[in-house]
Amino acid sequence: MLLPGDGIGPEVTEQARRILQRVSEVFQIEFVLEEGLIGGAAIDARGVPLPAETIELAHQADAVFLGAVGGPRWDNLPSSLRPEQGLLELRRNLGVFANLRPARLYPELAPASPLRETVLSRGVDLITVRELTGGLYFGQPRGRKVRPDGSEESVDTMIYSSGEIERVARVAFRLAEGRRCQVLSVDKANVLETSRLWRQVVTRVAQEYPRVELKHMYVDNCAMQLVRNPGDFDVILTENTFGDILSDLTASLVGSLGLLPSASLGEGRRGLYEPVHGSAPDLAGQNRANPLAAILSAAMLLEYSLDLAPAARAIEKAVQAVLAEGYRTQDIFTPGSRLVSTEEMGAAVATRLKG
Ligand code: IPM
Ligand code: MG
Repeated sequence: MLLPGDGIGPEVTEQARRILQRVSEVFQIEFVLEEGLIGGAAIDARGVPLPAETIELAHQADAVFLGAVGGPRWDNLPSSLRPEQGLLELRRNLGVFANLRPARLYPELAPASPLRETVLSRGVDLITVRELTGGLYFGQPRGRKVRPDGSEESVDTMIYSSGEIERVARVAFRLAEGRRCQVLSVDKANVLETSRLWRQVVTRVAQEYPRVELKHMYVDNCAMQLVRNPGDFDVILTENTFGDILSDLTASLVGSLGLLPSASLGEGRRGLYEPVHGSAPDLAGQNRANPLAAILSAAMLLEYSLDLAPAARAIEKAVQAVLAEGYRTQDIFTPGSRLVSTEEMGAAVATRLKG
């Protein structure tokens, strides 16, 4: 199911659809692609950011692809009616508690990274596993109230159960087993009670995965180490808010937020796939957004929800080829390379996709 959403969401979703069509020809697989409303688009058409029919279709689908939600037009609505609320409710409703955000440096894109090439010389190939349905994003109580003296106060609640930590930790350890066997659990256990529980539970889960080496790091230090030694990282396991912040950082390390895909997984095979970038209202409708994060999210969809790893590898290879040939959208453009539009980038990837 496709949920294009707002801003550049529809444009990048169109390119993901183009790639899925190409995969369907090359690999002789038939996809049924339903489309639904979410975010600001759903507020305009139905008055709510996540209509019941979208939830129903999402549950019937094998996988859900989402473009992006949000924009200044809807910024002044009450918090329960904001476009972002639609996305948060969808994540929660689908039970997709583990959010995978791989950040890999394509050597050709090193000049687009703000880091010096010496810092990037060992390459970057890491994946953030972000807990997605707990913590500050969903904890109760939350809200705002006026105090007797007329001043205001507001509260958000950071809450984690051991079960929520265990299940996302298992996802991280299993992933690490298929990679370089290193898990870095990121927390703020020197200050936060939830982090002390997090550390304890992750340490216990680690015993089930003797091949994997577990380390812990405070989140502030992690932000610094990511910038200084990005090549040191394999799997980063962290809670919702820390993961939100650190994954934007990892995106910029490898060149652009426009490159980072994501997969959100729960207990079953159904997943929610979205580029890590937002709706970028200032770019919307200009055919300039980078569709690669969306295209690579489609690759993750094929791999994790449809068990079509060969098709996912074919997409990644096509993306690599296009970058090696110098195609660049404006966010990753450097002098000497070839500036292309959203559509041209999508078309270039599609034509290079081979079985
Ligand atoms: C992300 C986004 C979302 C989040 C917003 C749009 C609610 O920033 O997926 O990283 O905070 O999870
Ligand atoms: Mg974010």
